Order: sequence, then structure tokens, then C-alpha cells
Amino acid sequence: MSTMHRLGILLSGRGSNFIAIADSVAAGRIPNAEISVVISNKADAPGLAAASARNLTALAIEANGRKRAEHDAAIVAALREHRVDLVCLAGYMRLLSPSFIQAFPQRILNIHPSLLPAFPGLDAQHQAFEYGIKIAGCTVHFVDEQLDHGVIVLQRAIPVEESDDAQTLSARILEQEHIAYTEAIKRVLSGEYVIEGRRFRKR
Ligand code: GRF
Repeated sequence: MSTMHRLGILLSGRGSNFIAIADSVAAGRIPNAEISVVISNKADAPGLAAASARNLTALAIEANGRKRAEHDAAIVAALREHRVDLVCLAGYMRLLSPSFIQAFPQRILNIHPSLLPAFPGLDAQHQAFEYGIKIAGCTVHFVDEQLDHGVIVLQRAIPVEESDDAQTLSARILEQEHIAYTEAIKRVLSGEYVIEGRRFRKR
């Protein structure tokens, strides 16, 4: 019997990546997976409302002036309570403390709207556009203790068109993100990979 994989989604805003993952799970495109909990550090995040509307467990766990480690401990406790085995950051706008990362070794994914290691940090699409890149894209990677840095699971690339501005480019990158996250989760949950140094490859 195949075991059910339990996903925990962390978000802070719009939640379009969460919605894409939820659609994939509902359509059976991510085999043997369910979303066990959606957590936001912002109570008014549209993504959290979208999770409730889908009858998923949706929790707001705000920092409320607590130190990062304390806030993260509350989130880790909620993830454990819901027996999450893969954490997916989907527009979660906070750095994770080392103890959070150590609680889920190689079990936290993030999506970033650039071809890492180019343009880590905020506003990656605008940074990339202004830099004059010709190929843009997105990266799904494991989270480690450095920002936008862990082992890369997959990337998707698109050309920058002459007619693009930063907004149209961001929108086309986002379409790729929605495809990439499902694919990356599937690959990780399959367990059919090895990590050699920084290289993630099929086993
Ligand atoms: C995405 O561009 C993602 O790559 C970045 O934050 C944004 C979140 O968008 N980490 P959404 O909330 O998933 O719509």
C-alpha cells in the first residue's frame, strides 16, 4: 500500500502557487499527496482565504512581536500536529530559523522567480529585467540556512521578449512557477533521487 504524503504549505500573500499545487493535488497530478495544513504569517493573506474556501485547514500564525525562533517553533508545532512530511514555501516572506530547517531536513521546498544563483532576494523578476537578461525563469530548491540557496530540484526557463516589461515578464515567469512546483513536488515525493553535493539527480 502506498503511503499518503502530507504537504504543509506556508504562504504570506496572494497564494497563486498554493492554488496551483492544490489544483494539482485535487486533479491527481501529484500521486498519493494531500494538503494537510496551510499556514500564513499574515491573517489577511488572500492565499489563506483561498485555503479555507477549499475546506483545507488554514491557520494564521502571526509573529506578534515574538522572536523568529519562537514564532517558528509555533509553526513547526502546527506542522507536526498535522503530521506534515513535506513543507512547501509558496510566497512565504520570512526567513526560516536554523531550528525550523533542522526540524525538516531536506523536506522544505521553496520556489523563487529567477534562475538561481542569479537574483536571489526580493523582486527577483524586476532585478533580472533591469539587468537586461535574455533568459528568465524560476527555480524550485530545497531550503537551507542561506537565502535562496539550497539544492536545486528543477528550473524552468523562458526567453525575455522584446515587447516585455517587468510586469509581463513576471506574469510569464509565474505561469512557469505553477508548472514547476507541481513537477518538483512529484519528483521529491517519488523518492527516486540522490543528492550528490549540490546536484539533485534521478536515481
Ligand atoms: C512567487 O513569485 C514566488 O516565486 C515567490 O513569491 C511569489 C509568491 O506568489 N517566492 P504567490 O503568492 O504564490 O502568488
